[in-house]
Amino acid sequence: MQKKIKAIIIGCGDRGLIYANYIKEHDNDAELVGIAEPIESRRKRIQKLHNIADSVCVNSYEDILAMGKVADVAIISTQDKMHFAPTMKALELGYDVLLEKPISPDIKECIAMIQQAKKYDRKLVICHVLRYTPFYTQVKNILNQGDIGEIVSIQHNENVGYWHQAHSFVRGHWRDSQESSPMILAKSCHDLDLIQWLVEDQCKNISSFGSLKVFNSKNAPEGAAKRCTDFCSARENCAYDATQIYYRYLKTLTIDGNFAWPLNSLTSGNTREEVTKAIEEGPYGRCVYHCDNNVVDHQVVNLEYNNGITVAFSMCAFTNFISRNTQIMGTLGELQCDTQTNKIVVRKFRTNDLTEYNPTVYETGHGGGDDGVLRDFIIYVRDNIKSTSITDAEISVASHVIALAAEESRVTEQVITYDDFYNRNS
Ligand SMILES: NC(=O)c1ccc[n+]([C@@H]2O[C@H](COP(=O)([O-])OP(=O)(O)OC[C@H]3O[C@@H](n4cnc5c(N)ncnc54)[C@H](O)[C@@H]3O)[C@@H](O)[C@H]2O)c1
Repeated sequence: MQKKIKAIIIGCGDRGLIYANYIKEHDNDAELVGIAEPIESRRKRIQKLHNIADSVCVNSYEDILAMGKVADVAIISTQDKMHFAPTMKALELGYDVLLEKPISPDIKECIAMIQQAKKYDRKLVICHVLRYTPFYTQVKNILNQGDIGEIVSIQHNENVGYWHQAHSFVRGHWRDSQESSPMILAKSCHDLDLIQWLVEDQCKNISSFGSLKVFNSKNAPEGAAKRCTDFCSARENCAYDATQIYYRYLKTLTIDGNFAWPLNSLTSGNTREEVTKAIEEGPYGRCVYHCDNNVVDHQVVNLEYNNGITVAFSMCAFTNFISRNTQIMGTLGELQCDTQTNKIVVRKFRTNDLTEYNPTVYETGHGGGDDGVLRDFIIYVRDNIKSTSITDAEISVASHVIALAAEESRVTEQVITYDDFYNRNS
């Protein structure tokens, strides 16, 4: 029988819960032996599911790491600015670490974590989950086969989705770049990492534009209340009415019978009453025009690579679906793909051949990427694979440099050179 990997989870919010559920469903491969989470209802939810002793269900990463090494791996899914301290300590203790993206909004911290993993000869893998989806694996395979020749240019859209923007980037955790990180890092490090993976070259120049155009008080419709559950004369025509958004998900449950995302951001429970109370009293019931948000709601990024490839990337809140679509233009053909329709279409110039691919669709998060990253990480650790993982921190950091350089470009209205930005910030 194969060795079961023992895991601890640090930060049992939305992401920690996803990984806890994966481990429960794959209990021949892994076992959850400890958790650190200050919110009692979140901690109890996972403790109950995994039947973990009280002594290893603690409030904070400091407490669990003070116990020494109690498992093989640490899954670190605290908030963006709380990745550094637990990761450094876990690596020092000898844990292999699966760390949520972004590694850190500070390049120096990213580099220090990579060096720490080297120093203690540990694995440090980042949850850039898109690389683990059947969809983008298929895209990558098509490019590797040379079906469209050499890549010349890429256009890529990240369709954030109007209600997802409201949930995470207006009302939720990533609304304030000082508290978390700029949206182009928090949300789009996935996309910039995907582009890195497809292009396989070093980025040279970065420019970017974007703003918070819509979700601010000057755009509040007349009569808009401060909360959706107050009397609001703008409600009937408002796409961001919290009750309408959240009641749609009342049937979205995880294996423990409690709410899955997005409702688990509001409550650890499973009743309509709990959701209503959270909307009435908590941050997710605030009017989208009366929040304390400052991150952009649309941003474009242009990239030039050393080998001459150009990329035009657009991230935008104002889309109906949460999806991504991409056009990759090569010397011998073009590839168009859309995660919403699950279609990848390749056209070859010379023959006019058209091939359509429809990769396996997974119902689990990020098109199977959430399961994929943990599945591969468990194998990576269990089999002590020596080659680097496709989302090793050392590989993933390039997307962070590009994202933060894009943010500097947006703010300063300058073109930023990758090397110069890296040297100034490392
Ligand atoms: N890979 C992806 O696709 C993806 C998607 C969404 C979010 N994320 C990232 O995952 C991370 C977590 O996001 P989330 O949505 O789960 O956030 P979350 O806020 O729901 O979860 C973070 C948890 O950390 C807990 N915490 C706070 N202080 C702690 C401490 N001292 N010790 C232990 N835990 C502590 C919080 O109470 C919270 O429950 C973020 O960095 C986020 O950007 C990644």
